[in-house]
Amino acid sequence: MKKNTRFVCQSCGASYAKWTGKCTNCDEWNTLVEQIVESETEAKSAIKKAEKSGKILDYKNIKAIEPSDVKERLKTDFDDLNTVLGGGILMGSVNLLAGQPGIGKSTILMQICATVSKTKNVLYISGEESAGQVKMRAKRLGAESDKLNFASSTSANDIAKTIETGEFDLVIIDSIQTLAMDEISSAPGTVSQVTNCGNLIIRAAKSTDTAVIIVGHVTKEGTLAGPKVLEHLVDVVINFDGDRYGGFKTIRAVKNRFGSTNEVAIFEMNEKGLKEVKNPSAALLAERQNTDGSIILATLEGTRPILVEIQALVTPSNFGYPKRTASGFDLNRLQLLIAVIERRTKLKLDDKDIFINVVGGMKLQDSAADLAVCMAIASAAAERKLSEDYVVFGEVGLGGEIRSAFRADQRIAEAKKLGFKHAIAPATIKDSFVIPTKDLRETLIKYVNEK
Ligand code: TYD
Ligand code: MG
Repeated sequence: MKKNTRFVCQSCGASYAKWTGKCTNCDEWNTLVEQIVESETEAKSAIKKAEKSGKILDYKNIKAIEPSDVKERLKTDFDDLNTVLGGGILMGSVNLLAGQPGIGKSTILMQICATVSKTKNVLYISGEESAGQVKMRAKRLGAESDKLNFASSTSANDIAKTIETGEFDLVIIDSIQTLAMDEISSAPGTVSQVTNCGNLIIRAAKSTDTAVIIVGHVTKEGTLAGPKVLEHLVDVVINFDGDRYGGFKTIRAVKNRFGSTNEVAIFEMNEKGLKEVKNPSAALLAERQNTDGSIILATLEGTRPILVEIQALVTPSNFGYPKRTASGFDLNRLQLLIAVIERRTKLKLDDKDIFINVVGGMKLQDSAADLAVCMAIASAAAERKLSEDYVVFGEVGLGGEIRSAFRADQRIAEAKKLGFKHAIAPATIKDSFVIPTKDLRETLIKYVNEK
């Protein structure tokens, strides 16, 4: 009998009867793969069997249950990373570390191994690199220790069996995309491989209270290559973001069953691996040259206040169509702000190319960056610089009004700490440090427009 097959999207898991180039559920291209599915009668008989085999659950009063986070947490050497994890790596937790190839996942994991293996048994499993390569990195990072072990494997069955021995407190798996389960015929990295390998490993980790960190590669667009599904299975998902070639890199939790998702750790890569950046504002402002088009924004990374420089370059367009480019800032937001500036102030930008750069490889996700971006554009267009004493923050509405920003106190405190004298910020904030602003046009005329 011909097996019933369906086309399953490897990105979101949606299934279709026919192959199409694009998944209509998640809009990804070329992600559908043919997979065998159980027939309806098979499924029905399975449900019938399941109905009979069920047992009544063993339930307890909520007061009698031990909270899971009283378990021990393995501390890394990075304080901010411990905070991102909710206080360290919880025993028995399964953590997914997601990031682009080359960002530094293997590096930071080896550094974590170095710390944890001082007191605990650690196993590093790689399906990507040879033992020799991993050894080179371990040596370079000073991670060699009696309790740090290495195995090379791509078999989820073998890895789960090894975890089940309970010999290790921490197991690193680099990476999920290389794993395969013997019982499944599809290629490594496909939804069914990733889901089933993930489940097998999670079971093994839970049954022996072993902490596990799984590496997952993400594509350029920032989604986990193939297996979005894995994010639902694991306890903690941490994202490693930033520039692959220099600049700051950030680690934040996008899901954490044992902690908050507001925190962020900031890193820099040097020849001794990754290093936490303790005072990012000072580092970001160190190379600043106060020219026109440069504005200091008081922003937030998670709950941490940071000062970053926003640079704008405004040049005449050579062709009819003006070009807009943004690095570290959302391009759609930039286009919207340009429209607001043109409509609400007298500044003419439709014959200008506009480039925005957020210094240090930071990626802003803060609506309070609006005012700083607008001021940078106006400053560059008018070739008039803003006094070095000012930081800026505030959201810009479509009417050109300046709207309030959350955590203003922290932004102000950071600006004071770094020696700024004033903040150009929403008028709703009551603080003598703030020069209250309500309207974009007035603000631009006062500070950065041509007089
Ligand atoms: P890697 O951790 O292998 O990235 P991933 O596992 O995310 O693919 O390494 C990232 C880059 O970092 C690599 O190009 C080499 C560089 N690097 C350093 O600059 N310093 C170091 O100490 C190490 C170990 C790597
Ligand atoms: Mg790697």
